[in-house]
Amino acid sequence: MQVRSVALLCAVSLAVVDAARLVSDSRRVMEPGVFLEATPSWTQGRRCQDSHTISALIMLKHTPEGRAQLEETFWAVSNPQNPRYGQYLTQDQLTDIIKAPAEALVTVVDWLKSEGVTNFQVSANLDAVNVILPAPKAEKLFDTTFFEFKHSTANQTILRTGKPYTLPTFVANVVDLVADIIRFPAIPSVKIVEEEGVGAWPSDCGSHCKSGWTTPGVLTQRYKLGAAPSTVTSGSTFATAEFQGQLYTEKILNDFASDCNLPNGVKVDHQIGPDSGSFVCNLGACTESLLDIEYIKAVGGAIPLTNVYSSTYSLLDWANTVLNLGDKDMPLVHSVSYGNDEKQQTGAEYMYQVNTAFAKFGARGASILFASGDQGVYGRTGPGQKVFNPDFPGGSPYHTSVGGTDFLTDQIGDEKTWQDGGGGFSNTFGIPSYQAEAVAGYKSSGVELPPADLWNNTGRGYPDVSALAGVKAPYCVRNGPIYAGVGGTSAACPVVAGIFAKLNDVRMSAGKPPLGFLNPFIYQNAAGFNDVTTGKNNANGPYGFEATKGWDAATGMGTPDFEKLAKLVV
Ligand SMILES: *[C@@H]1O[C@H](CO)[C@@H](O)[C@H](O)[C@H]1NC(C)=O
Ligand SMILES: *[C@@H]1O[C@H](CO)[C@@H](O)[C@H](O)[C@H]1NC(C)=O
Repeated sequence: MQVRSVALLCAVSLAVVDAARLVSDSRRVMEPGVFLEATPSWTQGRRCQDSHTISALIMLKHTPEGRAQLEETFWAVSNPQNPRYGQYLTQDQLTDIIKAPAEALVTVVDWLKSEGVTNFQVSANLDAVNVILPAPKAEKLFDTTFFEFKHSTANQTILRTGKPYTLPTFVANVVDLVADIIRFPAIPSVKIVEEEGVGAWPSDCGSHCKSGWTTPGVLTQRYKLGAAPSTVTSGSTFATAEFQGQLYTEKILNDFASDCNLPNGVKVDHQIGPDSGSFVCNLGACTESLLDIEYIKAVGGAIPLTNVYSSTYSLLDWANTVLNLGDKDMPLVHSVSYGNDEKQQTGAEYMYQVNTAFAKFGARGASILFASGDQGVYGRTGPGQKVFNPDFPGGSPYHTSVGGTDFLTDQIGDEKTWQDGGGGFSNTFGIPSYQAEAVAGYKSSGVELPPADLWNNTGRGYPDVSALAGVKAPYCVRNGPIYAGVGGTSAACPVVAGIFAKLNDVRMSAGKPPLGFLNPFIYQNAAGFNDVTTGKNNANGPYGFEATKGWDAATGMGTPDFEKLAKLVV
């Protein structure tokens, strides 16, 4: 791509840059609204050394016309009631719509060259430039200082700027932001449980799993999954996203598959990022990734799995990596169990860029599912300021948010809200049309709503769907040499993603295109979900949203019934 884009741009190159330079060589502060104190779990360590490498993604501004055309396409191809449903764009067609103005890209590329930066790559959609450079060079380029930051509980160190960064004005004019040199990631917060679960059912993983834990067999029974596909020729694919040292070893995955009698095995077919072969999963260090991979494959059987790994959590970097994959290689369903609070983003440009990236996935026919969070309505920020703290990307209208449930009794049957499950209403994004009726129905259902000054009545409601997440019947995860019980929407997310990949298999086997962005389909097909009507997500404070009949801000439309959905998708 780099070759193509640079060749394309040569003609307009020099004139534009020189003109811009003459106007001004002063600099502009970028993302001034990002406050480091919003994520207090990271503390500043030593200044970056020569040996440290910074990878940064320079996000160019889109034209209003390009963004509007992407938006129009995204909603049309995602809506089962639209004549263009399923008519997705190829990567090249998408680039034609959304690419940054050629002069803008030339400005950035020529600036990098003039600064002696040689290791950079233009994104496939011609709207971002990834630079990889030694820390001292990055400090000069962005006029800032980089430090090591250490997490207070997780064994993690990341490189971030200690103060806002700046760009030359002529570059800043064409750039929204540089991701992710200033923002701190949240460490996944899966809950590890050692005790037995409350379930009264036999284990299909033998004595490896404690009594009452959730196993692949429990999911198969509850969500009517039938047999996992053993051969997949339809083209259905799925992917997990992992960050921050969350990797896996083939041995652990094989052990899980054989202990739980999964005939299709559990393996990663395509690894993007470092090879897992060289990696050691210290006990507990890989819980998130092992949970995701074991359970998406337990549901999806032989559907090919791609694991997209990057060492530092960056939504934009992840999205760019996936969007750079060509049409044959881009996985169709993505499960991401990482998130933050809206409050911890603060940059409108940042959330705008994330939404644009998500819309690109949908325009190409790919589905994105995120865990809705594990702290109830108060989010990662907590109940300190009394108000609810919506999750990001939970509150983004452009993805599918997956909340959490527990079993109602000790039997495999009806579910209730998991008290810790993320849910609520965005403070940033309005109510998208696909859920307008459902959200209005919830507010007028007569259910007791929390005091109006704690949440946003005009915001996008989430989650959209949910699945078992609870610690009441924790997921049985091979977590290294031993098994652990694990709870969280981090578990619900790969399960629902696996189910939608199975539904893609059904649809694509019938000669139809994949489901793409799922929400219009989900809200138009309530009959395909087990409605969850009890419980409240008020884990960390006095208030929360109650589940009720129909959509609610605790469990969304409910949990999937594969048998019913398989009839509805074709
Ligand atoms: C922390 O991480 C480092 C590098 O990833 C590893 O060498 C070390 O053993 C880890 N420490 C613990 C306590 O897990
Ligand atoms: C409520 O949400 C809307 C977007 O729907 C936003 O514009 C507004 O600022 C939010 N209000 C508060 C108090 O956060």
